[in-house]
Amino acid sequence: MLAGLVLLEALSIVLFGTILTEQQRREVYDRAQHRLAHQATSLALQAKEALQQERPDWAGLSATMMGEAPSVALAKITDPSGKILFVSRGDKANAALDPAEQAQIPLMTRDEPRVFEFANQRWEGVKPIYAGGALRGFAWVETDRAWDHEQLDAILRSTVIFGVIWIVASALLVLLMAHSISRPLGILLRGTRSLMSSPENSGKFPLPVTGHNEIAHIIEAFNRMVASIDEQRSGLNDTLSLLDSMLANAPIGLAFFDRRGRFVRVNQVFADMTGEPLSRHLGRTLPELLPQPVAQQLEDTVWRVFEQEQPARDLELTVQAEAQRASTWLASAYPVRTTPQQVRWVGVIMLDASERKRSEEALRKTEKLAATGRLAASIAHEINNPLEAITNLLFLLRNYCELADPALGYVVMAEHEARRISEITQQTLRFYRQSTLPARANMSELLDSVLTLYHSRLSTLNIQLERDYDATMDLFCFAGEVRQVFANLVANAIDATPEGGRLMVRARRSRNWRDPEQTGVRFVIADTGLGMEPEVCARAFEPFFTTKEVTGTGLGLWVSQEIIVKSRGLVHVRSRTAREGASPGTVFQIFLPDDHKAALDVKSAAPEEASAASAS
Ligand SMILES: Nc1ncnc2c1ncn2[C@@H]1O[C@H](COP(=O)(O)OP(=O)(O)OP(=O)(O)O)[C@@H](O)[C@H]1O
Ligand SMILES: [Mg+2]
Repeated sequence: MLAGLVLLEALSIVLFGTILTEQQRREVYDRAQHRLAHQATSLALQAKEALQQERPDWAGLSATMMGEAPSVALAKITDPSGKILFVSRGDKANAALDPAEQAQIPLMTRDEPRVFEFANQRWEGVKPIYAGGALRGFAWVETDRAWDHEQLDAILRSTVIFGVIWIVASALLVLLMAHSISRPLGILLRGTRSLMSSPENSGKFPLPVTGHNEIAHIIEAFNRMVASIDEQRSGLNDTLSLLDSMLANAPIGLAFFDRRGRFVRVNQVFADMTGEPLSRHLGRTLPELLPQPVAQQLEDTVWRVFEQEQPARDLELTVQAEAQRASTWLASAYPVRTTPQQVRWVGVIMLDASERKRSEEALRKTEKLAATGRLAASIAHEINNPLEAITNLLFLLRNYCELADPALGYVVMAEHEARRISEITQQTLRFYRQSTLPARANMSELLDSVLTLYHSRLSTLNIQLERDYDATMDLFCFAGEVRQVFANLVANAIDATPEGGRLMVRARRSRNWRDPEQTGVRFVIADTGLGMEPEVCARAFEPFFTTKEVTGTGLGLWVSQEIIVKSRGLVHVRSRTAREGASPGTVFQIFLPDDHKAALDVKSAAPEEASAASAS
């Protein structure tokens, strides 16, 4: 640009110089013509005066003086016919009039001098000399062309010098401009481009500030602006990182929808809930990713929030994915505004409330069971009284009269059945009655009472039961809780064992396999059931973990483990499936300490302290 400026400057100077020179040339010639007219008039007047004074030699003198003038090449005086009378220099014979000069004579008027060009650009002024009313001759003055040219050259020279000075001055000015304007402007331009192409790259900033002019101030302002953008961007990035980490790590499902009901942002927990990869969500709608009617319910809620611009809370959704148990989600939706007037997105918070729901159900079930247990216990209790009467009566009947044989046989059978009823009611009562304090309990009775409860299931499935325990073995414990543990383990074993399988229940006085100092009882409940896969075995003690889709709550083993840990005991399981070769089955080993002090401590211990005991 600057080079162009210099070129333009030079061109305009040349043009200007040419026009000026041409004008000066014209002026020089104009002035020369005037001068010639004036000089011719002056010479004519002097010649006229000399003639009037009758001193024609004075006219010759005037011509000589005129010829001395620097601008005059030759001055001469002729008679009316053109014959040379006086000449300023040289020989008269050589100064005879040129035919072009001769041709001027007839054109001459009395008052006006005449200026003309002749023979190769020679200029000459001529004026008639009148004295005493008669034409006495002509005064001729020829200009000195060298003098005019000199003048012209001087003008040209000064124009050229002026032009050169002008160009040099302009170039200097341009250089100065380049230094103080163009260079900083170039830096600013490059800085702006780099900011536009890679806004994140602030390595090129701040831009260097040279000088103290307005451009330097603009660059300073630009640097401040970039620094402030950078600061804002880093603040924004921090906020975004916070939001992103919240979105990624929040243990709840989060999703955002635009006005067309499409996902614009979603976190992993939400994606896990829909069962689709995270990347598949963006740009899709709820019905494309979730089963009906949940998708519709959730979408309706989103539309409602857009419409009413009010949050919607605690929408309970039940999702039944194929071959899985139903999940319960708790959804809340709220408007996301970018300006106070406009709701741009709707955010949805989703909580998987399945476990809560299941524990509520389990609690309800437990309460129902407890109520049923209480009812069963009260019925058993009420049956017990008339039963005792029946037993006594049967005894009397057997001993009081001599009964004939078949009748006696029937009474004995009735007595036998009445005893069975009594046993069942006793066990039902014992099963329900929870001791509030630990006490010494007979383990054989306890295990029998549990097995009696499952007697009919065992015989229906034709499961061979092997009992291996000492009738006198007792343990200082919470009998009700220990009974619950065995009930869970036996129930699980029966659930897993196919028809014709075996169930083995064993109890032995033993020592803790982790701490041989501690004595107690080791129980083994082993079945020849289906066994557990390693993944199932690893999770078996988790609350709500079950493989029995409809019938199981998944709490049995968890509750059992809690009880064992609380009693400072140990539990260990080994299991294998048919896939692992050999015969499948599961073996639970439990150690319960026979420790008065520990049992009493458990009663008063805080729950955290109690659960510190280990289970393996
Ligand atoms: N003896 C066993 N043989 C095979 N699998 C077992 C055995 N005991 C437990 N399991 C597995 O462990 C899971 C958890 O058992 P747990 O007793 O906690 O719950 P559940 O039996 O499924 O339900 P609930 O006891 O509440 O009715 C079972 O679903 C089952 O898959
Ligand atoms: Mg169970």
